[in-house]
Amino acid sequence: MPGASDYRRIVDPRRALDDLPSAGVGHFPTPLQFLPRLSDELDIEVWIKRDDVQGVALAGNKLRKFDLVIGQALEDGKDLLVTTGAAQSNSARTGAAAAAAVGIGSVLLLSGHPPATPTANALIDHLVGAEIRFAGDVGWDYLNAGVRDIVSEFHRRGHKPFAAPVGCSSPLGSLGFARAFLELDSQLTEAGIESSCLVHTSTSGGTHAGLLVGRELSGRSIQIIAVDVGAIYEDPHGALLDLARASAERIGTTVDLAPEDLIITTDQLGDGYAIPSNAGTEAIRLLATTEAILLDPVYSGKGFAGFVDMARRGALDGPVVFWHTGGYHALFHPPFASSLSNETD
Ligand SMILES: Cc1ncc(COP(=O)(O)O)c(C=O)c1O
Repeated sequence: MPGASDYRRIVDPRRALDDLPSAGVGHFPTPLQFLPRLSDELDIEVWIKRDDVQGVALAGNKLRKFDLVIGQALEDGKDLLVTTGAAQSNSARTGAAAAAAVGIGSVLLLSGHPPATPTANALIDHLVGAEIRFAGDVGWDYLNAGVRDIVSEFHRRGHKPFAAPVGCSSPLGSLGFARAFLELDSQLTEAGIESSCLVHTSTSGGTHAGLLVGRELSGRSIQIIAVDVGAIYEDPHGALLDLARASAERIGTTVDLAPEDLIITTDQLGDGYAIPSNAGTEAIRLLATTEAILLDPVYSGKGFAGFVDMARRGALDGPVVFWHTGGYHALFHPPFASSLSNETD
């Protein structure tokens, strides 16, 4: 029998990635779409990867992560997802919806306070039957610790719970984006596109970490630029690389990168996480009016604002890919909706 130290030598990482159990809650591949009117507007060839249209509860990027995390949990005989996020968390909503779709329960620990009327993501949390607990005005570390407490509580009550951290950015969850990168790689090859750069929205970093692992596996040379709209890590480059390395390790490979090789910009953070910005609002309107594709004011709108800014400054060389990570549910949360319908900005 080979020992753990032999694992890296004997396992084909692409095979190991393919063999990860999936919950079957996504519709993959997601479309890679050319954007003709936006390309004219920005004077650069723009493609968009449509992770906003895939699978349960209108999905978004988190579905790729939960697909693997829940897939593994089902294989391990687990029966209850415990996860966490902000009151309007896309990640928590996606986890709860994916759990419902495979017939298991979910408990969500959310920051903030119970709303008088649940809207947008919070409404979907209710509709898919999640048990929702509010932690008050607390930070991400507190929420992750709270998840561990809830897991212990449900163990004591005879369940077989499993946890997913903020953003579902565990090493396994992040591998959903290693798969996603290979999906994009095939689509680019099939369409004959030599893209120089890929821009995506980032917060907990699982998307970025997984894309880096996928790029390493593919051997494709493409810049991966993260527009960080959360700034949740003291040392984002170090945190990202640790996560990418742990994800790679899980499939018996490595990522050959130094922290300074990672491209992360916080230019679009504005007044902070989940606070709509004028640039984000303008970006949302631009993509809606040119291509009728919807973004949101917390994540993808700010990420797209970063993309537009780079394109307008001539910092990008076409063809380029903007990875749409979803999140437009937030458009239907009244405080966000009013920031967008205000014509004075
Ligand atoms: C719509 C959307 N885009 C991007 C992100 C960031 O992804 P990650 O947490 O993997 O960095 C999130 C995270 O919640 C999200 O909901």
